[in-house]
Amino acid sequence: MKRIKMGCTTLSIPAMALGIMRMNQKSVPEAQVAIQAAYDAGINFIDSADIYGGGKSEEIFGQAFSQMQIKREEMFIQSKTGIVPGKRYDFSKEHILHSVDEILERMQLDYLDSLVLHRPDALMDPEEVAEAFDQLQAAGKVRFFGVSNFDTAQFKLLQSCLSQRLMFNQLQFSLKHTGMIDFGMHMNMVDKPSVDRDSQFLDYARLHKVTVQAWSPFQYGMFEGTFIDNDGFPKLNQELQKLADKYEVGKNAIAAAWILCHPANIQMLVGSMNPQHIRDSAKGAKIRLTRQEWYDLYLAAGNYLP
Ligand SMILES: NC(=O)c1ccc[n+]([C@@H]2O[C@H](COP(=O)([O-])OP(=O)(O)OC[C@H]3O[C@@H](n4cnc5c(N)ncnc54)[C@H](OP(=O)(O)O)[C@@H]3O)[C@@H](O)[C@H]2O)c1
Repeated sequence: MKRIKMGCTTLSIPAMALGIMRMNQKSVPEAQVAIQAAYDAGINFIDSADIYGGGKSEEIFGQAFSQMQIKREEMFIQSKTGIVPGKRYDFSKEHILHSVDEILERMQLDYLDSLVLHRPDALMDPEEVAEAFDQLQAAGKVRFFGVSNFDTAQFKLLQSCLSQRLMFNQLQFSLKHTGMIDFGMHMNMVDKPSVDRDSQFLDYARLHKVTVQAWSPFQYGMFEGTFIDNDGFPKLNQELQKLADKYEVGKNAIAAAWILCHPANIQMLVGSMNPQHIRDSAKGAKIRLTRQEWYDLYLAAGNYLP
């Protein structure tokens, strides 16, 4: 597995993580098969959130992982907090601290390697968040911190009050969700792709050594389904198949390679619970697409160049 530097540190992490958002739909043995498939492929990084399956994903993970042979320190385990579904976003100190205790209990862990704030809370008080982070770190409950779906100004604002460097920002990015790079190529134009909805975060991350974690790498829309083998995307699937044949892998590997070949050292979060799809995705980390192949995929996904 390709390894990348975590944020501004010299620590190395795998370029792929296993996201457990969908683990609530699996039995404990099925979850163990998925975790083992990922681990054997070099994916020793888990991404979770307190809200996945209403907490059930973390419960299943806890039951599964605690019975496996993988040592705790060999797996980087991250979770997220800050969303109270249907009610509010909540970055209050009280909510963050309480949520971490619940995460640790559900996942049967003594500490999290990383805690990520899930979606910007309009009422965020950075100093209050800083107190929560300091307390969690001092108690040995969380080692590193990050954010998710933050724009550049929100990221800078929070960072300015923290004693820790933020390591991650999780953003949606895939062949069917390319806003983070479209506007750069449509710079100074008036067409739709020229609109920057991501506040140039990818460039900011490269300049300031923040690891961007790409969520939903095989989905179109927001959880509408996968574009892989989907009749709604014939051109893209034709191109994926052509390259899958060339590199002797499956389509997941090519879609993964497309993300990992971007020079920003993105870490992608694979959400599959199917061991074959996990293994195939991992193969993508070894593929070096040519520049033309990368652009051919981008265009086949329905994008255009000015
Ligand atoms: N920060 C955020 O706001 C945010 C939002 C969403 C997600 N996330 C994180 O990102 C992770 C990944 O998200 P995701 O699960 O949406 O991403 P994903 O990996 O793009 O999608 C996984 C889904 O696609 C299916 N799939 C993958 N390859 C397939 C294939 N070849 N054929 C048929 N189905 C295929 C999987 O089914 P199988 O299981 O059958 O393979 C699964 O249902 C989550 O687990 C979570 O950790 C973060």
